[in-house]
Amino acid sequence: MTKNVTVEKSKTSKIHDVDFDNLSFGSVYTDHMLVCDYVDGAWQTPKVIPYQPISLDPSAKIFHYGQSIFEGMKAYKDENGKAWLFRPLENFKRFNKSAKRLAIPELPESHFMDGLTTLLQVEKDWIPQNPGSSLYVRPFILASGNGFHASPADEYKFIIACAPSGAYFSGKVKVLIEEKYSRAANGGVGYAKAGGNYAGQFYPTQLAVEKGYQQVIWTDDNTHEYIEEAGAMNIFVRINDTLITGPTSDRILDGITRKSILQIAEDQGIATEVRKITVSEVVEAAKNGSLKEMFGAGTAAVVSPIAAFGYQGTDYELPELEQSYASQLKQYITDIQNNRIEDKFDWRYPVD
Ligand SMILES: Cc1ncc(COP(=O)(O)O)c(C=O)c1O
Repeated sequence: MTKNVTVEKSKTSKIHDVDFDNLSFGSVYTDHMLVCDYVDGAWQTPKVIPYQPISLDPSAKIFHYGQSIFEGMKAYKDENGKAWLFRPLENFKRFNKSAKRLAIPELPESHFMDGLTTLLQVEKDWIPQNPGSSLYVRPFILASGNGFHASPADEYKFIIACAPSGAYFSGKVKVLIEEKYSRAANGGVGYAKAGGNYAGQFYPTQLAVEKGYQQVIWTDDNTHEYIEEAGAMNIFVRINDTLITGPTSDRILDGITRKSILQIAEDQGIATEVRKITVSEVVEAAKNGSLKEMFGAGTAAVVSPIAAFGYQGTDYELPELEQSYASQLKQYITDIQNNRIEDKFDWRYPVD
């Protein structure tokens, strides 16, 4: 089937200026981007065009009412040079779930998938092959329609930009369990990937960084007694040999890495529980030695082991394990993503 996407190639390329052996996360961008406008009540034909700034009127509603959503995914290149995505239809479904919550018109699947695969085919040389690197892919929608009236815009832009990237965190992270601020509330937008969710986290995270932590672990807004998630990751806790993660809700993003890890763990015979996790049980487990691991899981960081957590002025260290669930699960998921092992769950998606 032919794809309804137009392509305008850039006359020059920046690729030779990029040091693929020393990539940071998400700070250099490829030569092209996908742009698709919503005007006159319909999403128009997506276009691959040279990467460039966009022009918006100062009254565009994105600036005033924060009507914006995004996704985060990665493209990988295997040792034969073939390009792959990981469960992109899950990102598409979540994108539209976020769109609905933010009163943004939902995108047809073909606009998302054809736009994404066409862009990645054009940018294939930008997908790194170095271990631990990938092409981070950022689809987003912003309200480009004008007006100071606090109501949904009548025009939007769907854009995909890509950044060849290395690791999100270097090494283990130290986190602070939040006791005052909240990321999300029942009935709110916590389950959506809405830009404003992240803006609201920056200040409490800055306070945590000033105290020597890299990340905040969000707790429920009502009691602050339950562990919910980290900045851009879902949280797993291993008590004795059971791997536990909280249930998704109005307040928690339904992470694709989270659900993949749960499935892999179950397949590998690791006992899993999806249930509310109290801060007090984690503190108690840290004190009595049954807390073996804590890690974050998300597309950007994949699996990010937590070295220590702070709570009510005390730091609790986690043990250094030779064979951790975190490293076992990370190895397996990255092996699937990079086409190094059989894809028994049917998660890999060919770009070309
Ligand atoms: C708040 C939040 N939680 C969890 C995740 C992990 O989701 P995923 O595994 O789909 O990347 C992300 C990142 O997308 C996030 O922003």
